[in-house]
Amino acid sequence: MFWATVMHRNVYRAQCLVKDPFRFRPGPTITRQIHVEALHTGTKPPAFAFVFDIDGVLLQGKKVLPQAKRALALLEGQNPRGIKIPYIFLTNGGGVSESDRCQMLTRQLGFQISPSQYIQGHTIFKTLAHKYSDKTVLVLGGKLDAVRKVAEGYGFRNAYNTIDVLAWNPSVWPYHEVTPAELEVAKRVDLSRTRVSAVFVFHDPRDWALDVQVLCDLIQSDGIIGGPYIPPQQRSQPPIDLYFCNPDLLWRSDFERPRLGQGAFKEAFQAVHKALTGSTYPYVQYGKPTKATYQFAETVLTDRLEEIYGVRHPPRHVYMIGDNPKSDIAGAVAAEWNSVLVQTGVFDPQQGPPSPRPTHIADDVEAAVKWAFDRELARGV
Ligand code: G3P
Ligand code: MG
Repeated sequence: MFWATVMHRNVYRAQCLVKDPFRFRPGPTITRQIHVEALHTGTKPPAFAFVFDIDGVLLQGKKVLPQAKRALALLEGQNPRGIKIPYIFLTNGGGVSESDRCQMLTRQLGFQISPSQYIQGHTIFKTLAHKYSDKTVLVLGGKLDAVRKVAEGYGFRNAYNTIDVLAWNPSVWPYHEVTPAELEVAKRVDLSRTRVSAVFVFHDPRDWALDVQVLCDLIQSDGIIGGPYIPPQQRSQPPIDLYFCNPDLLWRSDFERPRLGQGAFKEAFQAVHKALTGSTYPYVQYGKPTKATYQFAETVLTDRLEEIYGVRHPPRHVYMIGDNPKSDIAGAVAAEWNSVLVQTGVFDPQQGPPSPRPTHIADDVEAAVKWAFDRELARGV
């Protein structure tokens, strides 16, 4: 094995304008200025790069897998070539702002993680904010008002959550008594006069029953909670838009068995809506394995390569490291990336071979990175 520690870096600070990677979608181009620590090693960029899933690969709930730090150390230059290999994070998780999560990850993983290398389930909602900037939207999921704040940060000027709904009228859902902490962050609004135009599910709802109730109320009363029932054919056009950003039925936290995810909430809502109306409600799905999310990730990876090496072209070989065949691997296969399935998360070999088939199966993220590195070295990177 040629794994030994060699490190040399030259660092300089640069301020650059980075076109928003959301440019594959119509809408205003957002330019943002970010301070990046760029590492122009002056060496030829490697032909490969990594995309890391988070839950079940680097973390299990709050627990940081020791292999995660060692894997990142390899890519940060602690390898015989001393080269820095670009990598980004692509998670279906969320619930806080990208910059807050990157600060957390930096502390947990021990390497500087920048928002320009981090994508979470709802990051893509940024591209839709201009369409709803003057409309009222409902945002679901997350703790207290964290997700509403993220939505406001994205440009949704009139965003409310179901705690705001309960604070307005507790009888909307009699089984959830608003706590003092919730009241403190509730945003006051008279929803009997405010039509909600769209619902964005940002993260896993904390009270499924409350959120299912409010969603059904909105749909059946054409956007006015508590308003009279409006038959489908008399409702506004377009009808209330509904967006999900994470289709995962299951995900790996720090419990022995995988936990229900945002995808399970979606199934629960659709089952109730169907029981009430005879049909499921149309929605737009983002997050892994959707094509939009992988296209976006490829753009972010190319930006990251440019940040490090000052050259702009997509990496020739991308390695997606994930724990969920239905999400991480399926998206990577469709994007024609290499994929490595690890066994520290959702995937359980006891339940049979993974579908779709990954390029390789590894015990954990460190073994996955070493396997890919060996493969690329054998190719003569
Ligand atoms: O809620 C997050 C979960 O569904 C999966 O997260 O990091 O494995 O994509 P991740
Ligand atoms: Mg995962």
